[in-house]
Amino acid sequence: MHDIGNVVNRVDHAQSGAIMAFRILDKMGMEVSEIATIISAIGNHDESTAVPVNEVAAALILADKSDVRRSRVRNRDIASFDIHDRVNYSVESSDLILIKDTKDIIIDLKIDTNMFAVMDYFEIFLGRMLLCRRAANYLKLRFKLVINGVELL
Ligand SMILES: [Fe+2]
Repeated sequence: MHDIGNVVNRVDHAQSGAIMAFRILDKMGMEVSEIATIISAIGNHDESTAVPVNEVAAALILADKSDVRRSRVRNRDIASFDIHDRVNYSVESSDLILIKDTKDIIIDLKIDTNMFAVMDYFEIFLGRMLLCRRAANYLKLRFKLVINGVELL
């Protein structure tokens, strides 16, 4: 539901999605306080404006930004891939791992570096990973990024 605003436009989709979600959840009879939590999370999930304002927002940020993988690429013509397609296509697996004992939350990626350099990943995703760190901090967790077995953040 968090990306529902993309039906309007990708630009500012977090905010338009929050407004759309309000209407849907209100019509469903959800408690106002729960609606407020959910729509503020939706309105704060895009890295251009995001802030982990509550626990749901922090969890949504971590879940959304770890959702990078080959199957997200709709374009089937590798020759016309843009940098986002190349990064997503190069990710063979992505896991979000919570280790309760150490309070670590880890995005563990396996990237095909024949397709793509790890630096390209950072060019696209550094802002998102820093946002993940803020979200983890909100949840009193320690964020780690592991790519091909190497801890990078
Ligand atoms: Fe989004």
